[in-house]
Order: sequence, then C-alpha cells, then structure tokens
Amino acid sequence: MSFEQPVIIVALDFADAEGALAAARRLDPAQCRVKVGLELFCAEGPSVVRDLQGLGLEVFLDLKFHDIPNTVARACARAADLGVWMVNVHALGGPRMLDAARRAIPVDGPRLVGVTVLTSHSPEEVVALGLGASGERVRSLARSCREAGLDGVVCSAQEASDLKDLRGPGFVLVTPGIRPQGSAPDDQRRTQTISEALAAGADYLVIGRPVTQAPDPAAALAACLDEARAARTHNALKDLEQS
Ligand code: C5P
Repeated sequence: MSFEQPVIIVALDFADAEGALAAARRLDPAQCRVKVGLELFCAEGPSVVRDLQGLGLEVFLDLKFHDIPNTVARACARAADLGVWMVNVHALGGPRMLDAARRAIPVDGPRLVGVTVLTSHSPEEVVALGLGASGERVRSLARSCREAGLDGVVCSAQEASDLKDLRGPGFVLVTPGIRPQGSAPDDQRRTQTISEALAAGADYLVIGRPVTQAPDPAAALAACLDEARAARTHNALKDLEQS
C-alpha cells in the first residue's frame, strides 16, 4: 500500500449494509477507496468491512478513537486485524495516546491519521472549549501527530494550506467537505471544490453524497476523477512555472 492513487475516498454513510453495498458495487476499486463511519459500523460491525473488502475496495475505518492509551492501542490493533487501509484517532487524545496507537499498528498495517479539530466546531466553540485559537490549535495538533509518527491528519481543505509545510511522503492531508464543481453543499458549511482542495495541498479527498446519492454513482465518480486530473495538471504546470 502506498499513498498513491486513487485519491478519492467515497464516504459510505448508510444506515445498513444493504445500502452501503449497493452503492459500493457501483464503484470501481481502481478509482476510489471507501470510508466506513460510526453509523454503518454500529449497525453492521466488522462484517460490512469484510464485505466491502470482498468487492476489492480498500477501507478507511473512520471511528475517530479517543480514550486512554491502552484502550485506543487495542482498538487500533483490532482494526489492523481487519485489514483496513486507514484508521483514525483524535489528536486531542494527546501524545501518549498517539504513540500507543502507532505502536499497536504493524509496519505493514493500516495508515494511521489523526483528527485535529472537528470542522463542525466554530472558532468561538473552539475557544469556549479552552482550546485557544482554532488555526493555531489545528496546527499544534497536526504537529503532535507528525511527532508521534502518524501518517497524516484529517483536516478541512481550508486548513490544508496552513499545514502544507508539514506534508511529506510520510505525512498526508485527508480532507472531507469536498464538492465537485456545481454540486449541492448538502449540510456542509465550508466546502471546497476538488481543484481548490488539491491546490491547498490535500492528498486525499473524502466525498460522500455527491457520489453515493447521484443517479449514477460511477459516472459521478468519473466526473470527480476528471476534475482531479485536470486540477493536478494545472497545479503541476503552475509549480513548473514557479520553479
Ligand atoms: O456526504 P459528504 O461528502 O458531506 O460526506 C463527508 C464525510 O466526511 C462524512 O462521512 C462526514 O462525517 C465526514 N467528515 C466531515 N467533516 C469532518 C470530518 C469528517 O464531513 N470534519
């Protein structure tokens, strides 16, 4: 496994395996990975992960572990047993928890990424929680993930440009809240387009409803990939011009 193509992670936010698998069957494993979150995992447990893997899809298990180091480490080990591609923890769990999580995952096991500050929090809420200025907190949490040897962070595309300097081959930015050009924001408040996110430094793009709720999910995914390819070419040309 490497941090390479496919860069799009389709969020399978479904209430049961039937819905998730019906959507997943319309997706090409060479074109995307999939994300299983709390709702689907609480409904179906590990079996839905295995079923998705059976379709050839790599799974990001998005359960955002946050507990004492021993508990999180053991949960990470079980996620690794499941053979998922990526798993995540809350960076707010602190350096000891991050370190324990990383140690629990075998070298060839899942990629481990940290959630910084949830994008659902407003800057005022972040202050009220005692976390200080939102931007600074995101950056310090991202730094602590990198220092603990994690493989990257989940952050909003807006935050990605501020974390660009922390990126590297072993440290990636995974960004949700992405909308292909012209699609509805749904309940997301601060969306960015595929090209904006890639220009900001995102390595992986989490896209849910614009693909899963489309009349033709495969065509919607193909359109996202076209947009990503065009953006990458544009960014590469810009880098060349600036070098
Ligand atoms: O359907 P949509 O593209 O909005 O789905 C986005 C996915 O990314 C959902 O699974 C959502 O829970 C997740 N996510 C997010 N914002 C975050 C963290 C995760 O939208 N900050």
